[in-house]
Amino acid sequence: MKSGFRRISQVLLATCAMAAVSSALAEAGRASPQPGAMSDTDVADKVDTLLAKMTDEEKAGQLSQYFYFSQFPPLAQKVDKEIAAGRAGAVLFTTDPKLVNRAQKIAVEQTRLKIPLLFGFDVIHGFHTIFPAPLGMAASWDPAMVEQAQSVAAAEARAVGMHWTFAPMVDITLDPRWGRIFEGAGEDPYLGAAMAAAQVRGFQGRHIGAPGHIIAGPKHFAGYGAAMGGRDYDEAEISENQLHNLYLPPFKAAIDAGAGNIMSAYMALNGVPATADHWLLTDVLRRQWGFKGWVVSDSGAVNSLVTHGVASDGAEAALKAIKAGTNMEMIPPGQNANMVSLPAAIAAGKLSRTELDAMVRPILAAKFRMGLFENPYVDEAKAKTVFDDPKHALAARITAERSAVLLRNEGNLLPLDHAKLKSIAVIGPLADSARDLMGSWVFPMNSPSGKSVLAGLREKLGTKVAVAYAEGVQIPQRVNPSPFGTLDGTNKKREPIDETAGVAQAVAIARQSDVAVLVLGESQDMSGEMASRATFELPGRQRELLDAVVATGKPVVLLLTSVRPLTIFDSKAAAILDLWYPGSQGADAAVNLLFGDAVPGGKLPISWLRSASQAPMTYARLPSHAPADAFKRYQEGSNEPAWPFGFGLSYTTFRYSDLKVTTPKVAPGHSVTVTVNLENSGKRTGDEVAQLYLHQKVGGSSRPVRQLKGFQRVTLKPSEKRALRFTITPADLSYWSDITKEQVQDESAFDVWIGGDSLASLAGTFEVAK
Ligand code: NOJ
Repeated sequence: MKSGFRRISQVLLATCAMAAVSSALAEAGRASPQPGAMSDTDVADKVDTLLAKMTDEEKAGQLSQYFYFSQFPPLAQKVDKEIAAGRAGAVLFTTDPKLVNRAQKIAVEQTRLKIPLLFGFDVIHGFHTIFPAPLGMAASWDPAMVEQAQSVAAAEARAVGMHWTFAPMVDITLDPRWGRIFEGAGEDPYLGAAMAAAQVRGFQGRHIGAPGHIIAGPKHFAGYGAAMGGRDYDEAEISENQLHNLYLPPFKAAIDAGAGNIMSAYMALNGVPATADHWLLTDVLRRQWGFKGWVVSDSGAVNSLVTHGVASDGAEAALKAIKAGTNMEMIPPGQNANMVSLPAAIAAGKLSRTELDAMVRPILAAKFRMGLFENPYVDEAKAKTVFDDPKHALAARITAERSAVLLRNEGNLLPLDHAKLKSIAVIGPLADSARDLMGSWVFPMNSPSGKSVLAGLREKLGTKVAVAYAEGVQIPQRVNPSPFGTLDGTNKKREPIDETAGVAQAVAIARQSDVAVLVLGESQDMSGEMASRATFELPGRQRELLDAVVATGKPVVLLLTSVRPLTIFDSKAAAILDLWYPGSQGADAAVNLLFGDAVPGGKLPISWLRSASQAPMTYARLPSHAPADAFKRYQEGSNEPAWPFGFGLSYTTFRYSDLKVTTPKVAPGHSVTVTVNLENSGKRTGDEVAQLYLHQKVGGSSRPVRQLKGFQRVTLKPSEKRALRFTITPADLSYWSDITKEQVQDESAFDVWIGGDSLASLAGTFEVAK
């Protein structure tokens, strides 16, 4: 026993450090088989019968997934040959139902065993109907709504013949320089776990093979969000403490929710490339967590084991990947498969047939569960009806409205009063762009459609309000364009405009208008894969434009589209509303929010840093040696973010009172209940996300100054009061200990706060003691 605390080793808690919400949902998901699902024994029998007929070559063929780019006929023809030869188990990136059926026909008619292909695609935030960037969806703090959004995405993807998505991305990151912050849920493992589980449920439905649903593949396992310096693909050095307490919990939640697939990460984690990491892919994922699905490598990640310097050629790379626990190789366009070398490895005694069979089994099982042997084809006429379902557009608009975060609203400038408004100036390089509102991971093959904020405003305001528009300045094109820009045309050279004249024109129209609405931020290709940034400044001359319009003295509303904490806190814009990338219905959502037909209720899933040089940062930092505040700061300014994690305003106000810990002392292994009263103290109906934070005062390890351990998004009418109840479970009170290398619960006093952001001041205490 150590002084000041006693540690209770919690073997029972060993695999469960995440949100109560995810454990409860996992329980529900485990009551298998769900109605309509094939039983495990049935699937296993079918798989074994098929495996017994397969040659080693045919087995290895199931382990290859090819990009199938119909736009590039020579590449497609090459893949056709591989399919016909039985050397492809899956393809990706063809979403035209006719081509899906054409490729599938080759597999089921020309191969000896007629094994159908799995079709995969990056369905990240919608397919045809585009939802907000996943980081934006996390800002809704509304897992049920996010589940609904991904079930819409699944229905649309399934309608074009997809069986599987490479999503959700559940990588935690503390570094917004990393472009892929776009795809995750931000910096917090509790919110991240809730979003991960919700998305898996949304994609997959009640079970793998549920009609209108697709298999979820959480990614990138694991630690990609810690890529050094926020540079894409760079190595990640993560302590065991951080890995278990910060980076792994959302993956565990996704697996507990039943995810059928998982994707290995590109980078080396603590020196071991993730695709060859036996500890990660076998010990943790399969042995500790009980994952029964299959691991796909990220695109080219098997081959890049040679680049990493852990294999001398493709054959050795395939062997290392398979032995570590990677089942399937995703093969970049134009490259050759490495898994084809496995039969030779068996012949040479380097791999056993049992090992190979174990890697093939979950892939065949997924095909049986998806019903592909009975029904390999997609109904080519179905997609349009599914895309046109008005519920989809409605869901996307509501999701965009509920994801928006109001960062500033001086003098209650928002909502604008429709009746009083006579003229409005709409300004900025993103004001008349529908495409940029949709964000990254949207391609021509998604056939998206949407409108710009300018078009949405004109539609809403009709002829009663004069709408003037000025682009002002341009967002510079990327210095190192992403290959994705070649797919969607963004890389084409643009004609420059005269930006000095553009700023002058914007100022002129602002002067003649009652209010100026600026739509600024980052273009869609500035985040996502291969889209890291070293600065959070508004790109190009946008800041100059903003300041010039603010200097007119007219009221200024700044609408932001971006996933980064752009450096705008020091501007004098009276109102700032972050839309993230709001999706295909983002314009209607923005207009509804501007005029109060929707009320912002989202909260930041990241700390809004003052500048890129503060990264990485989290509100959940460890307490440390603390001299006077002044010494802790950067010489140039504050340590604190511009707006804290969890922050977001509303058009109304909320008051918290009467925090009560109903169980001030509990024995280890028991739950604690905390209640609080929440009142809408303003004049409009609005939403508040009540957040509960904990701090363990003394323990075996130093514990974060506060950590999110509960949240509830509630809607209250003016003066309405609600008593909220939070249950803190033993899992919430435990953590992975670097001393004992297991999940532990310490005896300790705890601080608890409930409020509207991570600086919540209404506090209580309780004690965990025998
Ligand atoms: C590479 C990305 O890292 C991964 O997230 C994506 O799913 C694959 N490419 C396929 O597009």
